[in-house]
Amino acid sequence: MIKTEWYKNGVFYQIWPRSFKDGNGDGMGDLYGVISKLDYIKSLGVDGIWFSPLYPSPGVDCGYDISDYMDIDSAYGGMSAFRDLLDQAHSRGLKVIMDLVVNHTSDEHEWFQKSRRRIDPYTDYYIWRPGKKGGKLPNNWDSHFEGKAWQWDDVRGEYYLHLFAIKQPDLNMDNPLVRQEVVRILNFWLEMGVDGFREDVITFISKKEGLPSDRLMPATRGIRFYNNGPHIHEYLRQFRSEALDRFDCVTIGEAPLISPEKALDYIGGDQRDLDMMIQFQCMCANCFFIDYYPHPFSLRKLKKSFRTWQETLDGRGWNMLYLENHDHPRVVSRYGSERLRDKSAKALCCAYMFQKGTPFVYQGQELGMTNFKVTGLSDFEDVQTLNQFTWLPKGLRLKLLARASRDHARTPMQWDSGEHAGFSACEPWFHLNENYRRGINVESEESNPCSVLNFYRKAIALRKETGCVLSGVYREYKRRSRRHYIYAMESESESLLVVISFSKKTTRFTLPLAYQFRELTLRLSNYEKEPQGDVLRPYEARVYTVKQQSSR
Ligand code: NOJ
Repeated sequence: MIKTEWYKNGVFYQIWPRSFKDGNGDGMGDLYGVISKLDYIKSLGVDGIWFSPLYPSPGVDCGYDISDYMDIDSAYGGMSAFRDLLDQAHSRGLKVIMDLVVNHTSDEHEWFQKSRRRIDPYTDYYIWRPGKKGGKLPNNWDSHFEGKAWQWDDVRGEYYLHLFAIKQPDLNMDNPLVRQEVVRILNFWLEMGVDGFREDVITFISKKEGLPSDRLMPATRGIRFYNNGPHIHEYLRQFRSEALDRFDCVTIGEAPLISPEKALDYIGGDQRDLDMMIQFQCMCANCFFIDYYPHPFSLRKLKKSFRTWQETLDGRGWNMLYLENHDHPRVVSRYGSERLRDKSAKALCCAYMFQKGTPFVYQGQELGMTNFKVTGLSDFEDVQTLNQFTWLPKGLRLKLLARASRDHARTPMQWDSGEHAGFSACEPWFHLNENYRRGINVESEESNPCSVLNFYRKAIALRKETGCVLSGVYREYKRRSRRHYIYAMESESESLLVVISFSKKTTRFTLPLAYQFRELTLRLSNYEKEPQGDVLRPYEARVYTVKQQSSR
């Protein structure tokens, strides 16, 4: 099958199904709801949807704990609703990609139930170990969500490995039968017409033989023995040759801690394992490694992450661009300003929308949704959040979690200012952000030409009509500035120049020399009043196009 690389011209919209739109009045989002909003999604100018998991699941990790890979959860409308969704999306020219979660399953998956009872062929589907002398765990690895990475199972009389929650046992990908299952899953959905996969923590699926104990920092103990593990490329190639290469589809691999150089091992060259990678450096401008370890927002850190990915991948690999998804708090609250929400949401849109790669917009990001006001620990629902910092005094813990919890991205989508924000006819499964009453909702933003929503539409349209975003070369100016982010996509015939202030105050800037004597056409701005020369108002963002670049 010839791969057309259609995704390179595209923009994706991510749906986290529980909180997008309730269509059957049970308080939880579902596919009926999504179908009713396809025209809205299309109106954004996007080309495809990535769905976080829709499969049957006990919901311990909101669907990332799968109990059947070949079905759609009845709470979302089951398989018939999914087929309908697929048809209706395709008829609007929207691609549909699924989440492939095969590092682990739910412990309620039939495979695990049979594996713990040693019923063949499932006996070695998971990573079982007897434990060491004196009742010690098989090794000292930590799980990312719930304490140590091993859980004793009375039924089998052994420990199993779980890199995430206790109810998410890791699959044994070294077992050829497990890899055959993955191939079957891929073919099943691709044959149905799905256009690709976002592959959950895919760089974790191959563990080092012997599962050695680690001496590194406690929080990530073990990770160097399973991240980019020994057989990862072999396994990904098998998935390609036995399934993915038969279809004109896209794959996006989630890759914690990956550097751009390392990413090229997966996405570089012609025989690549994956098409794009979800990196985390752009999510670390206000934290160390993961959201929970805070430091103040650093524009220079953000710019550096953008720059190194743009420069390293240029001509060698394709970037996946994002500033929000279901695993991080809202970007306005993290990198912008809630007080200057409108301006900073638009500035952040410009900060990534014109880079080379495929941008993803997360539900509600296009409205400028913000974090909700946390009042107590009982406000949280997420398994990762609830297991963080359990040893800290309550007040401090609450403060840290309120800043970093993924739950901020999971409040229901704000459709209007009426009851339950138009998300549902009854009380939603999770609390709403009360600011839906204050204009942060689709209905209000539709009717305001200057809303964040309409700004996203304009930015996506401008990205698409300006060829140099895809064909040009990324160049950053004034790299050392702590307040301004200035970058351009430069091609021989045309350039696009983006000037953004991240300051809450009015500041001055100078145009890069290369643009000082050019005719700049202002194409997009987040202020209604004309720009004032070298004065940048708080969070001002301007996007210019320039015909024929200056000779340098
Ligand atoms: C990454 C997913 O994005 C996240 O939501 C999930 O909790 C973990 N992987 C475990 O599947």
